[in-house]
Formats: sequence, C-alpha cells, structure tokens
Amino acid sequence: MQPFYITTPIYYVNAKPHLGHAYTTIVADALRRFHTLLGKKTFFLTGTDEHGDKIVQAAEKNGCTPQEYVDSISATFRDLWPSMGITYDRFVRTTDESHKKCVQAVLQKVYDSGDIYFGEYGGHYCYGCERFYTEKELENGLCPQHQVKPEYIAEKNYFFRMSKYQDWLRQYILDNPDFIRPERYRNEVLSLLDSGALEDLCISRPKSRLSWGVELPFDTDYVCYVWFDALLNYVSALNWPDGEEFTTFWPGVQHLVAKDILKPHAVFWPTMLKAAGFEPYNNLNVHGYWLVRDTKMSKSLGNVIEPLEMAGRYGLSAFRYFLLREMHFGSDASFSEEALVARLNADLANDLGNLFSRVLSMTGKYFDGVVPSPAAYTADDEDIINLAKDACRNYVRLFERVRFSNALESLWELVRALNKYVDSSAPWTLYKTGDTARLGTVLYVLLECMRKVAVNLWPVMPEASEAMLGQLHVCFDSAGTRLQDEAEAWGTLQAGGKVEVSSGLFPRVEVAKEKDLPAEQPVPKAQPVAVPAVEYAEFEDFQKVELRVGTVLTVENHPKADKLYRIEVDLGEEQPRQIIAGLKEFFAPDALTGRQVVVVANLKPRKLRGLESQGMILALRTEDGMELLTASNPVPAGTRAS
Ligand code: MSP
Repeated sequence: MQPFYITTPIYYVNAKPHLGHAYTTIVADALRRFHTLLGKKTFFLTGTDEHGDKIVQAAEKNGCTPQEYVDSISATFRDLWPSMGITYDRFVRTTDESHKKCVQAVLQKVYDSGDIYFGEYGGHYCYGCERFYTEKELENGLCPQHQVKPEYIAEKNYFFRMSKYQDWLRQYILDNPDFIRPERYRNEVLSLLDSGALEDLCISRPKSRLSWGVELPFDTDYVCYVWFDALLNYVSALNWPDGEEFTTFWPGVQHLVAKDILKPHAVFWPTMLKAAGFEPYNNLNVHGYWLVRDTKMSKSLGNVIEPLEMAGRYGLSAFRYFLLREMHFGSDASFSEEALVARLNADLANDLGNLFSRVLSMTGKYFDGVVPSPAAYTADDEDIINLAKDACRNYVRLFERVRFSNALESLWELVRALNKYVDSSAPWTLYKTGDTARLGTVLYVLLECMRKVAVNLWPVMPEASEAMLGQLHVCFDSAGTRLQDEAEAWGTLQAGGKVEVSSGLFPRVEVAKEKDLPAEQPVPKAQPVAVPAVEYAEFEDFQKVELRVGTVLTVENHPKADKLYRIEVDLGEEQPRQIIAGLKEFFAPDALTGRQVVVVANLKPRKLRGLESQGMILALRTEDGMELLTASNPVPAGTRAS
C-alpha cells in the first residue's frame, strides 16, 4: 500500500498562530490519522517559513537579532500543535542547516541543467505583499491586494525558466484531474495557464537589499528569493538527497494549503519539481478562508480567533469537529461562537451525546452493563445495519476526497437514524413486556453501530473517539484498524463484555459571556514598513495633487469584487463622491462610517470592476494591516491639504 505524506504550508513567523493556521494543521492531522486507519505508513510535516524582509523588520522592532526572533515565534507554532491534538512527524524550519543545504543543492542542480539564468529584471514591487507584480497582474496599475501603486524596481537577478514548463504543466493538469482539487481551483490554474505566456520566475535578491536568506551556491552576492526557498521544505524535510525517507514518502505526497497560496503551489512548485528531476506531487488540496463577520481575520480589526481559547472554552474535540463539519472544503466559511455553539448543541449534545447516554444507561438498567447477544435480526435491524455500512463506506470515500463536511454528514445520517431506531423499537416497552431476546438484539445493534461511529470519528476528534470507545470497553489500536474493512464488518463488539452505564460526553454549551472571557491582550503597536527610495517630485508636480479631507457616509461591499468596498464620501460638494477602495480586508464597514479620511480628489475617475471610482482614499500599510490617513481633529468636509 502506498504511504501517505501530508504537508501544511510552513507558516510565516511574523504573526502568532490563529484559527486559519490551526484549521489547516488540524485538517492535516485528521488526514494523517484517517490514512493511518486505512493501514498506510504515514508522515506529517509542518513548520515555519523564516526568511525575508518582514522578519528582519520585526526583529528590529523587537530589539533582537533575526535568529532570536524566528526562534521565539517558531516555538509558539511548534508548541501550540500538541495542545490541539496534533501529532506531526517533523517540524521543518527554513533556517535549519539541513534545509539550507538542500535548497543550495537543488539550486545548483537546476543551475547546472541550464534552467537558472542571470538577467535584468524590471518589476512592480509591492512592499505590502513583498513581491513583484507583472503588468498583467496589476489592476489598473495598482496592486490587486492593496490597491496601491507598486514601485518599479529594476535590478539584476537570477531567474528560473518557468516559462519552459508551461505546456508540460497544462497537459499534466489535464491528464491528472485530481492533481489540484477541488475542481474550482484546478480550473482557476488552467485558465491562468491559458491566459498567456507564463513569465520566468525571479528567484534571487541581491544581498545589498536583503541578506536574511539562503545564499546562492553559484553567486555569494545573492540570496534565494523566499518562495524557491520555502517550497523546497517539502523535500528537505525528507532529508533529500540522503536517506530513505524521501524514497519512501515522496511517492505518497499530498499538499494542503488555502487559496491564498494557490499559484506558488500549483505553478511554481510543479515546474520547480520538474526542472529538478523530481516526480510531481499527487494532490494539491486547496481550502477557502475562515472569515469573521464576512471579513478576513486581521490583527488591526481585532477579529483574530485564538484557537487555544476556543478549544479551552468548548473542548478540543468539539472545536475540531466544528471546523471540519462547518467548512465545505474549498469554499470560505464564517466563524462565530454562535454558529459553533449551535452546531455543538445540535450534532454533539443532541444527536451523538444523547445516543450514547440513552443506550449506555439502558444497557446498564436492562442488562447490568453487559453487552447482550443478538438474536435473529428483523427487517428493521437489517435496514439499520445496512445503513451503518453505507454510511461508513460513504464516510471513507468522502474523507479520502477531502470532503470532510459531507463525510461527517454521512455519519450523522446514521447517528440520527439510530436515535429514531431507539424511539421506534422502544426498548423500555420490550423490557416491560419481558421480550428479552428482542431487547438484547436492539441494544446490540445500537452498541455495535455506536462502536462504528466512534472508530470513524478518531481522525476528527481523537480524544472524544477514544473516550467513546473507552465507554464501550473497546480496546482501540490505530495501527490495527482498517476503516475499509470496518465499513463492511458486523459483529465486532463482543457480547458478554462490559460497558460504562453513563456517558455525559457532550454536554450542552452556551456562548461564553463577556465576564467569562480573559482580558484582551493589548495590540502591539504597528511598525511602519520600510520607505522605499523614491525619485524627487517637483513642487509643481505635488501642487497638482488635490488632497481633501472628507467624511465617510456609507460603506457597502462591491458587488463584483471580494476585496473592495463602494464608499460614499462627503467632500463638501453637491453630491457625495463614490470611491472604490481596497479596504475591506482591513476595516469593517462600521469602522469606516463617520470617519474623516484624506482623499486624492482630482484623480482621474476610473472604473474598478465595473464601478467608477471618483478619487482615492489614502491609507498606510502597516505590518499589522492598515491605518487611515486623517486630520488630527475634525475639519469641515472638503478642507484641502497644503
Ligand atoms: N510562508 C507561506 C507558505 C509557504 S509554504 C511553502 C505562507 N505563510 S502564512 O503564514 O501566510 O500561511 C498561509 C496559510 O495559513 C494559508 O495557506 C492557510 O493554510 C493558513 N491560513 C491563514 N489564514 C487563513 C484563514 N483566514 N483561513 C484559512 N486558512 C488560512 O503563506
């Protein structure tokens, strides 16, 4: 059986782990547990991405060296995962000597084969994104993420001949329908490849501009650009080129990422692998974003969800269950404590918890806590047994295809049917009428189905699954379990064995009240990003720009763009101005309405995704998000800056 190797992105160490990081890593953990239960040898990799400008700035801000800084933040990721029930095999860091050696070896290999060359590069550099944009990628000349004009930088650099592999990649994706999944992301990548020629990838930075990186083996004046370095963690962690781990696990590799890093994983990485002579990965599994009140989490909005806090408040198993059940893998999902509580009460307390409580207590009351022997099965019993087998089969099939929510739903069809089966077979009446044979059969069917449910849930909620199996006195061994066989099997639970006679596993929960919550941590002060060297503007040029203070009247979502708002601003004119701004990622509508903002009032109107923008709101990109430029005290709308 082919081994299973699962990876998460290696996380940047410029922010502490939040719900989004926890989700990906919990999914990876669930997948690894699931594949263990399919009988495979598994390897689970996570880690941290520690090179780049932002790290150097963050270290300076904290008054320490980059190495000290990355050591401390990397440790917060490494130490968090075990408390989320996550057991990884390796935690890779891009500052590990072994990783750096591997990056250099691959660079040299690709350089020797002629796929890395030295050339002049002119590109549009966005300091917020820390990356170059091509002309094509800009939206009306602005960075699509930040809606700010990037700086044009020209310098000599090394390039990877990515363009050479465009046709190969396109064909490979067409020939392997599961290479990138779900399908919407596969289509997104195909349309990107169809939309024009792929450019070569700039893979270096001169040390004069950035020194915190892996030195190029063929030119000590340069370091490797972060993506080429970071992506190679997936092979460096398997000790390529030495050792057996690479040979064993690479053939079973699957990556797990969110949609934000689709292009590096779907385009850069497979072409890099091809050029370096590695086999492509098996699957790239791409999920959507967790949003909070329809907005991306960000420190400046104060809507970052702390995973440990949630697990501490509602229970680790419940939290993991919610994450996998609530998000349809591939689409965005909204996180709220209300939704969490509603789901826990419905699925865990009412459905699963209730089933365990009722059946265990009836086994206690009617059979002294001993598993009864089944007599002949009736048609109703056969129906529920078949349903159990179908539900388990579907669960395995869907889970394997990373459709966790559907997989769990399939298992819950069984859980709900079991509760109905309790009601319709009325064990209490069978007890009263003394029909012990029938009563024993009904309870056996229920207990055996509960065992099946508990085993299947181990990947999602290991603690609770083990507790449920403990209550059934089932000795669980993950290495000896095969979910494929389990789906077909019937009668594994031994009659005559004991069970616990009460459960109490999933109590009802309520949304935590304000007073129960820990005090808010002060948000650290933002550090301005480095100001790039600019060409001087003549005073007359500056005078041409009309900066006016306006008051934000209304803020609405742009109907056709995820990241844009349609904002109406009063500039003291007859009509308010309509301004289309990329502020959605950073500010909730309430945080903008009524605020005074500085507007470039004489900017030539232009359409952004179909809506005319009649000016531009000025904002400052900070390490933590964005701040508005404004007047220190309220001024009449329309006041001009001079
Ligand atoms: N360092 C790069 C990855 C290099 S991999 C070779 C990076 N790091 S990151 O810290 O920004 O992590 C991005 C990943 O974190 C996402 O792809 C996703 O796995 C997870 N998430 C961060 N925020 C998220 C949400 N709001 N929702 C879901 N997952 C998100 O990119």
